[in-house]
Amino acid sequence: MKKPVIAIDGYSSTGKSSISKIIAEKIGLIHLDTGALYRGVTWFALQNCINENGSINLEELFSSFDQIELEFKNDNGELVLFLNHIDISKEIRTNEVSENVSFVAKQKEVRDFLLQSQRSLAEKGGIIMDGRDIGTVVLPNADYKFFLTASIEERTKRRYKELLSLGIEANEEQVKENLIIRDKIDSEREIAPLRKADDAIVIDNTQLSKEETIDNILSYIKKF
Ligand code: DC
Repeated sequence: MKKPVIAIDGYSSTGKSSISKIIAEKIGLIHLDTGALYRGVTWFALQNCINENGSINLEELFSSFDQIELEFKNDNGELVLFLNHIDISKEIRTNEVSENVSFVAKQKEVRDFLLQSQRSLAEKGGIIMDGRDIGTVVLPNADYKFFLTASIEERTKRRYKELLSLGIEANEEQVKENLIIRDKIDSEREIAPLRKADDAIVIDNTQLSKEETIDNILSYIKKF
């Protein structure tokens, strides 16, 4: 039996990626954190495509796609993102990237650039992909679709802790503001907005631990 394709979408800091990673390990699937790809493109833009006033030069970014090679490598079970063969896994989590990624991700050119590689990775099945538009646009025929949500207070706490654990300086109020702004831009953008697919199962994990959320998702997945 073919291994399943699982789409996990939802709001920022609902634990999508860490939950997907554990599920992938438990049932033997590949995991793709699509948010990391958008962060990687944003990091590239911040390094290479900046106007004199400090803003991102989109035209320059769009004409530089052929210079962007994003690749995940497995480092002891940890998926590490490389941009042009350089490990950028820490850089993509910085506040600078978080503050600019939704602006970059709402551009049609950027979404088109990343779409095909996401789709081709799922062709053989056996993948769990997390993001914002996986169940609606990238993999509308996924075998299972989940949509994760949690209160803004809980998500702020989680993101704040994550940043501290990465050694990145953080302020809780700013973290909360960034999450609210990102959710707004992600939900209101014209192309592939953050939206629950009609056939997705909603899981509000405000009161759930990571393990409980994982068990909840696994309870829907049939043996294969
Ligand atoms: O999952 P994350 O917080 O690392 O994602 C970073 C940003 O990337 C998020 O604010 C919106 C964008 N994104 C997207 O537009 N589509 C996806 N499939 C994944 C992420």
